[in-house]
Amino acid sequence: MAETWLRENRARWNELVAVHARARGTYDLEAFKAGRSTLRSVELAEVGEVRGKSLLHLQCHFGMDTLSWARHGAKATGVDFAPAAIDLARELSVEIGVPAEFVCSNVYELAENLDGEFDIVFTSYGVLCWLPDLPTWANVVAHFLAPGGVFYLVEQHPVGNVMVDRDGALVVSESYFDTGPVVVSADGSYADRNAVLQNNTSHEWQHSLSDVVNSLIEAGLRIEFVHEFPFAMFPQLASMVEDEGGWWHVPRRDDLPFLFSLKATRPGPPQPSY
Ligand SMILES: C[S@@+](CC[C@H](N)C(=O)[O-])C[C@H]1O[C@@H](n2cnc3c(N)ncnc32)[C@H](O)[C@@H]1O
Repeated sequence: MAETWLRENRARWNELVAVHARARGTYDLEAFKAGRSTLRSVELAEVGEVRGKSLLHLQCHFGMDTLSWARHGAKATGVDFAPAAIDLARELSVEIGVPAEFVCSNVYELAENLDGEFDIVFTSYGVLCWLPDLPTWANVVAHFLAPGGVFYLVEQHPVGNVMVDRDGALVVSESYFDTGPVVVSADGSYADRNAVLQNNTSHEWQHSLSDVVNSLIEAGLRIEFVHEFPFAMFPQLASMVEDEGGWWHVPRRDDLPFLFSLKATRPGPPQPSY
C-alpha cells in the first residue's frame, strides 16, 4: 500500500490531467497540437542546443514540454507518476507525429522502471513541492546523468512561495524552511481555478534554496549556476500582471524572487559535440 501522501497526490494529479487537457491559457492543447512550443524563454536560453541529445524530463505531466524538446531535436523521455498523464502524453506523441518515450513511475522508483544515462535531465515549474525528500531525489537525478551530463531545473522560488497579498501589501504567510508537509483539501488548480475535484487532497513540501542546492552537491553534482528572477510563470499572487513575454510581476516591485533556475553537471569526460 502506497504511503498516504503518494496515493493522494497521485490521485489528484491523475484527475487533473483531464482538467488541464481542457484548460485554455496555461495549457492550450489545441495550440500545442498546431505547433506551439510550451517551452519558455528562460529554459530555452539556459538549456541551449538539445538536437541529437538524450533528454530525461522528470514530472512531465502530459508531456507537452517533453514533446516540445523533441520538436527541437532531443531524444526525449518523459516520466510522471499519474497513469492518465502518461496515457495522454503517448497519445499526443502519436497524434502530432513527434516520437518520444514516456514512463509511468514515481520519481523515487525510477531506477527500477527505466534504464540508461542521459545527456540532459530536465525538470520544471511546480515539481519540487511534491517531493518529501530532496536528497533521494538528487540521487535519482545523478543516477540518470551520463558523465559530463547536465541537470537543469527551473522552478518557483521558495521565497515567492511563502508570500501572499494581504490588504495591498505582500506578507510572509508561512515558514521559508521545510517544516513538514502542508496537507490541503481544496478544489481548483493553477490552470483552472473553478475545477471541482473528487480527489482534492494534496501534500506539499516547502524546500529552501539551500536544501535544493545542497542536495545536488551531496549527490556529487557540480553547480554551474543559480539564477533568480523577480517574476512568476503564472499569476501566483492576485496582484500580479502579465508582461508581453508571458511572465507575471507584482506591479512596481522587482525586489523579490518568484522564480529560480539552476544548472549542474555530473563530473566526467566532456560530452562529444553534436
Ligand atoms: C505542476 S506539474 C509539472 C508541470 C510541468 N512543468 C508541465 O509541463 O506541465 C507536477 C507534475 O509532477 C507529477 N508528480 C508529482 N509527484 C510525483 C512523483 N513523486 N513522481 C513522479 N511524478 C510526480 C504530477 O503528476 C504532475 O504531472
